Amino acid sequence: MPIYDFDGQVAFVTGAGRGQGRSHAVAYAEHGADVVVTDVSRGIETSQYPLATEGDLAETVRLVEDTGQRALARRVDVREESQVEAAVEAAVDEFGRIDILANNAGIWNVTDLVEMDERRWDELVDSNLKGAWLCAKHVGKHFREHGEGGRIVSTASTSALVGAKGSGHYAAAKHGLVGLTKSLALELAAYDVTVNAVAPTGVDTPMIDGILETEGERALASVSDLSGSMNVLDEQLVDPRDVTEAFLWLSSDAARYVTGAVLPVDAGMTAK
Ligand SMILES: NC(=O)c1ccc[n+]([C@@H]2O[C@H](COP(=O)([O-])OP(=O)(O)OC[C@H]3O[C@@H](n4cnc5c(N)ncnc54)[C@H](O)[C@@H]3O)[C@@H](O)[C@H]2O)c1
Repeated sequence: MPIYDFDGQVAFVTGAGRGQGRSHAVAYAEHGADVVVTDVSRGIETSQYPLATEGDLAETVRLVEDTGQRALARRVDVREESQVEAAVEAAVDEFGRIDILANNAGIWNVTDLVEMDERRWDELVDSNLKGAWLCAKHVGKHFREHGEGGRIVSTASTSALVGAKGSGHYAAAKHGLVGLTKSLALELAAYDVTVNAVAPTGVDTPMIDGILETEGERALASVSDLSGSMNVLDEQLVDPRDVTEAFLWLSSDAARYVTGAVLPVDAGMTAK
């Protein structure tokens, strides 16, 4: 039984090919929204694990359509402004509006800061931070012109709240996402747009599986440093659905006076 009512609304989800993004896309549809599902759907050079494929994105479309809602799929690398702008235009052409932006796309990799090359820094920071700004810029313009308010929810991380040994570029990008969230909340409040972030601990997705497979012990040390050994509640990894619940609430009328907030879904990790 759906708790929230997104009937007549349109959600734009980045990184929707699999993992948390797919979970968010399907849940918005289950609650009545049509969904624009976007993903880079090709490799990023410095990624230490394979990203979603076009087949993965097609599977998300199938799952959204199975709910009876409409889906529009676009290959979008969130680092590329022209691709973001074109996808936002296509979404408005197709559905007439966007109500919710779920800024979820991101990559993670493991390298000490003093050993990191510039390309690895740039590709991760651009995917996790610049991409969220570009999507907020173009969807935010639509919100202002459309005049019916909106919701932006971005995926931060516990690494937005504490440092990350072995993954400092990721922590820097996710801390930056908090600054972006608070600043957008101030700038868009006059247009009845709320802007928030969710900060999950480790989540059971292909990102974690992929990096454990390719980077083994080094990645395991980082994962347990970031989450498993520090969670207060008895879970090593939470489920994508646990993060989706926070997205649904922050996207709903129930959270209409919540803006500029960072909501941990971290099994108590940052309470310590
Ligand atoms: N899995 C975790 O433990 C964890 C914990 C905290 C936060 N996060 C964050 O959650 C979000 C979702 O990650 P996930 O766990 O579902 O991992 P995932 O790898 O399964 O999904 C991420 C998706 O983003 C896409 N993507 C990556 N870079 C992109 C780009 N430049 N443009 C467009 N799409 C791109 C990938 O193709 C993939 O489909 C990310 O922002 C990640 O940083 C993950």
